[in-house]
Amino acid sequence: MPVKTIEWVGGPDGAARLIDQTLLPTELKHLDVTDVETMWEAIRMLRIRGAPAIGIAAAFGLYMAVRDSRAGDYATFKAELDRAAQYLAGSRPTAVNLFWALKRIQDLVAAHAREPVPALKQRILDEAMRMIDEDNAVCRAIGEYGLELLVGQGQAGGLPGQAGSLTCTILTHCNAGGLATAQWGTALAPVYLAAERGIPVHVYADETRPLLQGARITAWELQQAGVPVTLITDNMAATVMAQGRIDAVIVGTDRVAANGDVANKIGTLGVAILAKEFGVPFYVAAPTSSIDMSLASGDLIPIEERKPEEVTEGFGRRTAPPGVPVYNPAFDVTPNRYVTALITEKGALRPPYTDALRTLLTPDTGRIQSE
Ligand code: MRU
Repeated sequence: MPVKTIEWVGGPDGAARLIDQTLLPTELKHLDVTDVETMWEAIRMLRIRGAPAIGIAAAFGLYMAVRDSRAGDYATFKAELDRAAQYLAGSRPTAVNLFWALKRIQDLVAAHAREPVPALKQRILDEAMRMIDEDNAVCRAIGEYGLELLVGQGQAGGLPGQAGSLTCTILTHCNAGGLATAQWGTALAPVYLAAERGIPVHVYADETRPLLQGARITAWELQQAGVPVTLITDNMAATVMAQGRIDAVIVGTDRVAANGDVANKIGTLGVAILAKEFGVPFYVAAPTSSIDMSLASGDLIPIEERKPEEVTEGFGRRTAPPGVPVYNPAFDVTPNRYVTALITEKGALRPPYTDALRTLLTPDTGRIQSE
């Protein structure tokens, strides 16, 4: 079972306990976060990261911001809440789950405007905790639909000398595993389900420059869970696909536009193009909380740019001449034409995505038929 990324410990005066992912894989250390500024920093510095986990962290951060509020009336309390939401929204721009979670809390409070402030505070904490339970259920459902797509695809043979084995071998980029969510992951949820059910599965993890989420986090969490994993550098993905080792690519996403374009960790676009070239299905695990119907296409998704030092002196050692200009976008956008299926908690969607997403998000549509 994957480790818990974030949980609430103690009662209303308690803390959000989260794994400090900047220390992985050499140190497994938990942080107990009790104030909104520390939560903002934890999100900004990627101590907690991955779209769904960022959303949950922000919800707890919002609670921390107002739990000691002395506001005696709704309007004052709501103004404080909205200010804190705006502050947290500035921590990272790309993962829409952050804004989704903040809005969900703000809407909840607005819907109970007649209640006394202490009751509203309790509602916020309860809602943030509910997001963890929901996230677990969503990820498990994505796992089921993802596994349906993977089962029977195991022909590539994941390791040298295993050609033709029935092991399903997938390639993933960055970390959309347990540590990017409350516990189960999106892209890696089908992998954990396969492992649980004794279905042979093997993961190739792209290292994921510049911050090495694939090496530090994906490889670590799969190893912890006893799932076979092989680490490659990003520039080896073409070779392993050309060698026929990969049955499917599965990645996560930080935001899906209304037309099915997907933003994900920088380097995902290259993997998608390679997958098309080599005839490998390219699946994107996408909880509905990552879908942003307000953006018509992926070119409208705000892309985070991070500081040059992540490229020039990643992990403390200088690897580039001082002063060299650096461009460091943290995400890229993969056009919908490269996406074989979007795996949501309500089913797997196939193109054309504009229609499929609209239908999916219409209330009471129920399960979408996955092929
Ligand atoms: O910068 P990060 O580490 O937060 O980027 C994370 C990713 O790109 C993940 O693939 C994405 O958030 C999906 S998480 C289920």
